[in-house]
Amino acid sequence: MREPGIVPSGFSAGELVTFLESRKAASPAAPVADRLQPGSTPATKPSPSTPEGSTSGDAAPTVDPSSIGYEPLRDAALACTRCRLAEGRRHVVFSDGNPAGRLMVVGEAPGAREDATGLPFVGQAGKLLDLMLAAVGLSRADSVYICNVIKCRPPGNRNPLPDEIEACAPFLKGQIRLVAPEVLLAVGSFAAQWLTGTTRPLGKLRGEVYSYEGVPLVVTYHPAALLRNPGWNRLCWDDLQLLRQVMDGS
Ligand code: URA
Repeated sequence: MREPGIVPSGFSAGELVTFLESRKAASPAAPVADRLQPGSTPATKPSPSTPEGSTSGDAAPTVDPSSIGYEPLRDAALACTRCRLAEGRRHVVFSDGNPAGRLMVVGEAPGAREDATGLPFVGQAGKLLDLMLAAVGLSRADSVYICNVIKCRPPGNRNPLPDEIEACAPFLKGQIRLVAPEVLLAVGSFAAQWLTGTTRPLGKLRGEVYSYEGVPLVVTYHPAALLRNPGWNRLCWDDLQLLRQVMDGS
């Protein structure tokens, strides 16, 4: 069932750009993690004994994503020193939105604003993500849970490295198991490739519905990529329509 009151009635033209432009003045929903997950504490600084560049040093806590509960999983992430990214972070960025939401959005990695606030998708790309979700009647305030493949900011916003993705994977696996969303949306190639288990480029992956351990999965462009390549907005709109169809069961 579509959440009411977000998309203007009669909005069905499939023109994401026009809609997004018309909504630019409106401020998107504020991040809700503080309300839903009180105690967004700064990350524990890595132990000095953690070997530089280690992805599984002795100090790293064991995280079994198949059995741990939500709060212990989050606590383990906030204290994580499993990879080198722990050294430069200000916050571990675990999630925002509703852990009981129907949709889980998976992005790539925190940027500077996310690192500063501890919340995913709060910069320009996050504003666009909120508009993309609003365009199909969804919002992080009530129906969407948002997280990333990588929970700590890579320095200079470089791409996550394979060993960093591997070190962080238990957290994402645990989040998917515990939130148990009805549908997954991967934004960007890192999330799309991890969730589909392929190395295909996003342009070749999009347009189909996949399954991640039985959960339907739709993939689309990362909002930061859309900001750089507005020509992809129409394709993104098509992906969002596909997402809506999957959520509506049609
Ligand atoms: N880009 C992402 O992939 N995730 C964020 O949280 C912010 C920007």
